Amino acid sequence: MPGCTLTVCRDCCCGSLRKHPGVDHDGQLDNLRAALEPAHRIRTSLCLDACSQSNVIVVHPAPPARRAGARPVWFGLMLDDAVVDDLVAWVVAGGPGRHPLPAVLELSVIQPPTA
Ligand code: FES
Repeated sequence: MPGCTLTVCRDCCCGSLRKHPGVDHDGQLDNLRAALEPAHRIRTSLCLDACSQSNVIVVHPAPPARRAGARPVWFGLMLDDAVVDDLVAWVVAGGPGRHPLPAVLELSVIQPPTA
């Protein structure tokens, strides 16, 4: 069953020790990969134009869920291991369109930047 794709922003602000000292950005990425691959795909991206909300992670629905109408969900301020763990649990449970977003994660949802 095809899984979700996570776009993990890593550029000028997301993943920046200068902006977010004390956050193990590489460790966050390693943990995401260890927990979710290969069932799900993790990719990094250049700036997603939401720097004020860094670190930004976008969870794209699995293709069947996308075809059924699910849309990517953007998360901001992903700086805390516990929140990232909640995100991982939601993706493992199915992610967008397949499993309801836990209330604790609703606090981290951001609006995608408008083009
Ligand atoms: S560096 Fe991630 S939104 Fe700009």
